Amino acid sequence: MLTAHATAHSNIALVKYWGKRRGVAPELNLPAVGSLSLTLDALRTETSVAAGSTDSFTLDGERARDGEGAKVFAHLDHVWASAGHAGPRPTCAVESTNHFPTAAGLASSASGFAALTMAAAAAFEWDASRGTLSTLARMGSGSAARSIFGGLVRLDLGDNPDGSDCRARRLAQPEDWPLSLVVAQTTVGRKAVGSTGGMERSRQTSPYFDAWIDASPRELDAAEAAVEARDLATLGAITERSCFAMHACMIATDPPLLYWNGVTVEAIKACWEARAQGLPAFVTIDAGPHVKALCRPQDAAALADLLRAVPGVTDVLVCRPGPDASVRTQPAAHAEVGQ
Ligand code: DP6
Repeated sequence: MLTAHATAHSNIALVKYWGKRRGVAPELNLPAVGSLSLTLDALRTETSVAAGSTDSFTLDGERARDGEGAKVFAHLDHVWASAGHAGPRPTCAVESTNHFPTAAGLASSASGFAALTMAAAAAFEWDASRGTLSTLARMGSGSAARSIFGGLVRLDLGDNPDGSDCRARRLAQPEDWPLSLVVAQTTVGRKAVGSTGGMERSRQTSPYFDAWIDASPRELDAAEAAVEARDLATLGAITERSCFAMHACMIATDPPLLYWNGVTVEAIKACWEARAQGLPAFVTIDAGPHVKALCRPQDAAALADLLRAVPGVTDVLVCRPGPDASVRTQPAAHAEVGQ
């Protein structure tokens, strides 16, 4: 095998994914809805995969203890098997670093599993297409399928029961449509309920789950058309509808999944106030309390100032559309084998 170094950027869903498909093998991690996202330049993960004397996983310089790397090693197994190799997978040293301006509360599983997938495929000398890599990244984390591509991206649901056509495709290159995403952090620290567990709880208990799923295809097609037309007002309106429909489904979950705090609400209102004053800004929120606002690049600094002025906002970050995930390799002879 080779030593491979991959870089992948995180993404923010404008049309959200929340919920897994029923009646399929859980390890396929098949979403119940498609999604549409913007890859972000400022949030990136770098991951290397090399031959190691045992399987090891180091995240942000800290060696994971026994068991903690299980999801990472299972993902390596999927990539190895998909690459068509016979025999057991070689043991690997995986090192991953999140280069996020502020560590707390911003999604890293999307960029993390995208980078791991790219690095593993290259280390196993498998020249897979980006679409195939997206399918594999999805098995690690649904949102990771989208981070294989830069710019604006759609994750299609597909029809195949094995999930082989549930993969992302690019709608627009980063430079095709200048956009900005302003991230207002409303707290420090990790979220209480992770996405994977939260969406399963919504599927089982939220009376609005089916309505949420039913509305998604219509919103996705309308959002794709808005991307094609470079129509920010329409894309922004869909972004907000998708976000608030998802959060209505979350809040109606039993027990409720209320990811917001008071500052979240004030930051939403600040964006809406800006919009009322003529600055087109459209909010979205994930499974956490931070508020992300989509806007034109020329409005980003003013919007960032408005959000910084909201009492309780701890940090504001301006992102632009980010690039494709990428990978480079070197011969195993130069590999830095596990510590
Ligand atoms: C609210 O991709 O983290 O951010 O597939 O279980 O790993 P798993 O879930 P994940 O869920 C993301 C949920 C979301 C919306 C989105 O990114 O589409």
